[in-house]
Amino acid sequence: MTPFMQSTVELAERISRISESSTMKVAAEADRLRREGIDVVDFGAGEPDFPTPDNIKQAAMAAIAANFTKYTPTGGTAELKKAICDRHHDDYGTSYAPAECMVTVGGKHAIFNLMQAVIGEGDEVIIPVPYWVTYKDVVTYAGGKCVFVETDERDGFRLTAAAIEPHLTSKSKLLIINSPNNPSGAVLDREEFERIYQLAARRGVRLMTDECYCRFLYDDQPFSIASMPGAKENVVVAGSLSKTYAMTGWRIGFALAPKSLIDAMMKLQSHTTSNPTSISQKAATEALRGPQDSIPIMLAEYRKRRDYVVKRLRAIPGVHIAEPKGAFYAYPNIAAGFRNGITSAIQFSERLLADAHVAVVPGEAFGTSEHIRISYATSMTELERGLDRIERFISGK
Ligand SMILES: Cc1ncc(COP(=O)(O)O)c(C=O)c1O
Repeated sequence: MTPFMQSTVELAERISRISESSTMKVAAEADRLRREGIDVVDFGAGEPDFPTPDNIKQAAMAAIAANFTKYTPTGGTAELKKAICDRHHDDYGTSYAPAECMVTVGGKHAIFNLMQAVIGEGDEVIIPVPYWVTYKDVVTYAGGKCVFVETDERDGFRLTAAAIEPHLTSKSKLLIINSPNNPSGAVLDREEFERIYQLAARRGVRLMTDECYCRFLYDDQPFSIASMPGAKENVVVAGSLSKTYAMTGWRIGFALAPKSLIDAMMKLQSHTTSNPTSISQKAATEALRGPQDSIPIMLAEYRKRRDYVVKRLRAIPGVHIAEPKGAFYAYPNIAAGFRNGITSAIQFSERLLADAHVAVVPGEAFGTSEHIRISYATSMTELERGLDRIERFISGK
């Protein structure tokens, strides 16, 4: 080994503010066990188990055959931006123009670009708990301060304007809303969402709505707060094709926002990733313009699985779960399994993986300490096997 290889690299302060995504950590550990030959049931992955629909794959293959393999404009092709605006209009009744749209390398990238463009040192970002892991890290990385708003699991993790209001200060810059929520599956009802929007607008706080799971609702009709009259000026939509069209690996997301903000985010993107993959952009255009029938098919399957998972979890003594109203995650309280030295969801998840060979994500990743996240974007057979193991693990049999 050369002396250079042994040395510790001196890193910038900002990189020490964040940590590796916990969901990725779980995936890596489950993978390690699997490579050792252990039969792991994986409830960690937040991605559809369905294949990308055929028409989308065909569009990508046609793009390659036609040599559509070069740089595109940084913020995406004109046809894809138009397709995003049109789909958003058709689904939610909004009226975005392509100049108010940019295509990003997954929804995560849209959120990262936004934080870098609007959050400065000490700016406060309101984040309801439980929250998707990435928000906290991208806000912190940008120099912002996370201000968490607790919700109550006994009330289905329902978020209200009244709960948010006391947390607003003169430093509040952005409010993040994620409905349906990852990890709890909670869905904001439309009237409350409107009240929250009114509150944010009145207090001069921009609202980012993460619409990643917006098409996966079990009871309500799809809705975007950006469709409210006048809301476009104060709202940023972070969108993604990853879950809606089972396209996690294609890495296509988008932002809808006032043009000046899109221009700022585009400036950053022009020096980082440049355009999202040209081939994926063709596939995404087909996803948005082509038949939409894969969505209700997936939703019907997720509903069956949700019902099964909730029923099984509620049958385990001491376990409670608020019924998920959207997305494909269950977020049970498993404090009943805190014994034999286990005092946290992290320890619970580690032992569950090591002893029962089931991978889940501990609640600490999402800001709570007595829950685990179970992704039911997996087959009924796997759900049955995994829930048998969880039941045995918690009841100590
Ligand atoms: C709430 C939420 N927002 C955004 C994303 C980003 O997804 P992607 O970057 O794959 O588009 C995810 C992915 O898990 C998510 O759960």
